[in-house]
Amino acid sequence: MRVPIIAGNWKMNKTLGQAVEFVNQIKDQLPPTTERSVVLAAQPMFLADMVRAAKGSPLKIMAENCYYHDFGAYTGETSPLALDDMGVHHVLLGHSERRRIFKEDDDLINKKVLAALRNGLHPLVCCDETMGRQVTRHKVHWVVNRLLVDLRGVKPADMARVTIGYEPSWAIGSGHSADPFQAEDGCYLIRNTIADMFDDEIAKNIRILYGGSVSIDNIKVLMKKRDIDGCLIGGHSLDPDSFLELVNS
Ligand code: PGA
Repeated sequence: MRVPIIAGNWKMNKTLGQAVEFVNQIKDQLPPTTERSVVLAAQPMFLADMVRAAKGSPLKIMAENCYYHDFGAYTGETSPLALDDMGVHHVLLGHSERRRIFKEDDDLINKKVLAALRNGLHPLVCCDETMGRQVTRHKVHWVVNRLLVDLRGVKPADMARVTIGYEPSWAIGSGHSADPFQAEDGCYLIRNTIADMFDDEIAKNIRILYGGSVSIDNIKVLMKKRDIDGCLIGGHSLDPDSFLELVNS
């Protein structure tokens, strides 16, 4: 059985005080981990305090990015080794904003995925999709191409720690979610691609999230879809009451 994941992505929002207060406010109101995985992604300088605040609760903390070397002369970067040592559980990789604004490509994301796994982290690998780019000149779906590179060289045994996020770029932060059928199509395609790259068992067990303007108005219908195992939520994860409502919906 795939336990659903509700993951909040705060992006570059909040201060340290607000981040810790948020964790303290929600941590005793979360469902048990057998029912739901609840994850919050925040800026790197908040993570240690958030991990401390969440200790003993079902809440897991996620970094929004990391580099692919464990240490060295990489000014401004975040080490996956340091994240794991700090008690951070997940790392978000390949988010559409990293790809678009910071020009991260699939080869770089692949290196980061391998580094995260090497360090014991659980990568949440995002596949964005731009309207009009569903078919490339090679006649292979955009999302399939992304996955083939992003997950290159991942050992089958490590796939148990990988989660995939399907996020149409046009739905992120726009207030216009993909409709549940489009969202299911994307997640279904991802599951089939994982089956082709690895095997049916891995494809059956991997959790695939939909992200892009998820709110209390659409989460229930999205989560009813067979291949959608949870949601990655930006804007509506910023308020603790709204986040709790989404988690418990
Ligand atoms: P949104 O962001 O919920 O604000 O659309 C989703 C995301 O960027 O992961």
